Amino acid sequence: MRKLFSVAFVAAFVAIGCSKSDTGESTPAPASPPATVAPTPAAPAATAAASAAPSAAPVQKVELQIASVGNTMTFDKTKLTVPTGAQVHVTFKSNSSQDVLMHNWVLVNPGKEAAVAAAGLAKGADAGYLAPGPDVLASTEMAKPGGTVETTFTAPAPGNYPYICTFPGHYIMMKGVLTVTP
Ligand code: CU
Repeated sequence: MRKLFSVAFVAAFVAIGCSKSDTGESTPAPASPPATVAPTPAAPAATAAASAAPSAAPVQKVELQIASVGNTMTFDKTKLTVPTGAQVHVTFKSNSSQDVLMHNWVLVNPGKEAAVAAAGLAKGADAGYLAPGPDVLASTEMAKPGGTVETTFTAPAPGNYPYICTFPGHYIMMKGVLTVTP
């Protein structure tokens, strides 16, 4: 870009110089800077095309929708699959109609369901029964009955990751497995 600008600048400068030194050829001279400028728009287009090439393998985006089942402590999907490294957007809808039955969606490290649930319980209702930590890979807010919550995260390394609801007592029943493929 800088080169193109300086070329245009020099061309303009030469044109001005020409018009001053030779009045007879002053009319055709100013016509040359526009000719020089004209190819310039092509250059950014080429640059854009070049920068688009590396993003031929962009971050894959995955939409996941999950819900709770009626007034139960269960997710409607107990198996989800995403590729590693994907940007995952989870929308979770609570189909509960009881104020005492609230849910969230929390992705945890394998084997850490009980620990994460216990830590959330200790945090209490004001914290949405969730204690952020290294074993919490993704989490939504606690959804009110009928409400929808969401979260976005980058899919971790390939493996099987449990997801749970951390509302007190729910995680034993309310769980599923997110499989992250290579
Ligand atoms: Cu729940």
